[in-house]
Amino acid sequence: MKPIQIAIDGPSGAGKSTMAKLLSKRLGVMYLDTGAMYRAVALKAIRMGIDTRDREKVCEILPDLDIKIEYKDGNQQVLLDGEDVSGLIRTDEVSMGASNVSAIPEVRKKLVELQQKIASNNNVVMDGRDIGTHVLPNAQVKIFLTASSSERARRRYLELQEKGLLTKTFEELKQEIEQRDYNDSNRAASPLRQAEDAVLLDTSNLSIEESVDRIISIIKEKVGSDVL
Ligand code: DC
Repeated sequence: MKPIQIAIDGPSGAGKSTMAKLLSKRLGVMYLDTGAMYRAVALKAIRMGIDTRDREKVCEILPDLDIKIEYKDGNQQVLLDGEDVSGLIRTDEVSMGASNVSAIPEVRKKLVELQQKIASNNNVVMDGRDIGTHVLPNAQVKIFLTASSSERARRRYLELQEKGLLTKTFEELKQEIEQRDYNDSNRAASPLRQAEDAVLLDTSNLSIEESVDRIISIIKEKVGSDVL
């Protein structure tokens, strides 16, 4: 049987990874967070003192780039040169760096190949920016998940506050989110776009539970209830 592929795209902070993780548990399929791969490239560049906007210099690290995805207790771990960097790639510095390196076509080519290889033999739910448009153009289910920038900043604010990591104001977080939206949507290489056959889901006024329920009904509609 053809592997089941579910693509979830959308801007930063729309809840893609929360949704994808819940779906992967509920459907028993593999979850691949593709943003983590761009983050790992950014971390490597930052560690080497390379400006993440410097295409030539970033390209120099690609031939030896060693990124692997492993699963421990059902959670994705990103290994960079054999080191688990899953926690280290979540800083604001790496977020902005990832947005920068993701605009470099050579970086995208390398990571998309890796993502397609992982998806080829597995049932997957993948989240990113170009999954429905480029990585898995034949995915049976494509969701474009979005929410207003204020709502996304509010969620990020609460998340940081809960973790005791709040160092920025709500306005600053909102501005950062809008800057990343702008970068991701306006780059030349695979900009953030809703695939023509993707279903748009705005979660600004939906709880996590309501959002998952909506996605489950979209999946049922597209591939039938026997997968659930
Ligand atoms: O989803 P995220 O915030 O972890 O992604 C980090 C950056 O990587 C984000 O700025 C956009 C980029 N990205 C991308 O261009 N394509 C993907 N498939 C996933 C992420």
